[in-house]
Amino acid sequence: MLLSQERKSLKMDVPIYFFSRTGNSKKVAFLLAKKLKTEPKEIQSYKFPYFLWLILSFIPFLPVKSNFPEVKAEEIVLCFPKWTFNCPPVTYFLIKCPCKRLTMIITYKGWGKNHYEKFYKFLCLILRKQVKIHFINIKKGSHGRRSQRLQQILHSLSCQSTF
Ligand SMILES: Cc1cc2nc3c(=O)[nH]c(=O)nc-3n(C[C@H](O)[C@H](O)[C@H](O)COP(=O)(O)O)c2cc1C
Repeated sequence: MLLSQERKSLKMDVPIYFFSRTGNSKKVAFLLAKKLKTEPKEIQSYKFPYFLWLILSFIPFLPVKSNFPEVKAEEIVLCFPKWTFNCPPVTYFLIKCPCKRLTMIITYKGWGKNHYEKFYKFLCLILRKQVKIHFINIKKGSHGRRSQRLQQILHSLSCQSTF
C-alpha cells in the first residue's frame, strides 16, 4: 500500500547510484532499487587497500577519480558508506555529477555521523545541490531492523515533493 504511494511521489525513473567497498551500501541500493523497480548504477574507483582509503578519508574534500554511468537526471538517490570525514570516490562523483537534487543514503557502523552529514551538506551547498541525508547503521541489529529503517527512508522520500 505504502509502496504505491512511494512510487507516485518519487519520480518513476529516479536513478539510484551507489559506491560500495564491502557490499553494505550495494545491498541497500539493490533493496531500494527492487522496491522502486529500477536498476542501481555503480560508481567504481581504484581497488586501494583499506589503509590507503583510511588515510585518504581523513582529507576533507579530496576527490579520487571514479567511473560511473552518465548522470542525465536532475534528481538521484546516492548510496555510499561513511568514511571518516570523506569518501573520495563519492566526492569526485558529486563534483562531476550535474544533478541538482540528491537523496543520500549512507551506511555506517555507528559513529561520527553528525560531522559527516555536515561535511556532505556543506559540499552540496558549495556545489549548489539540494540534499537530503539518511543514515543506516549496519551494526544495529538484524536484517529486519535494516529493512525497517529502509522502509522509513522510503516513506520520508515519498513525503518530499521537493528535497
Ligand atoms: C576508510 C573507512 C573509514 C570508515 N569510517 C567509519 C566511521 O568513521 N564511522 C563508522 O561508523 N564507520 C566507518 N567505516 C565503516 C563503514 O562506514 C561501514 O562498514 C559501511 O557500511 C561500509 O559500506 P560498504 O560495505 O558499502 O563499503 C569506515 C570504513 C572505511 C573503509
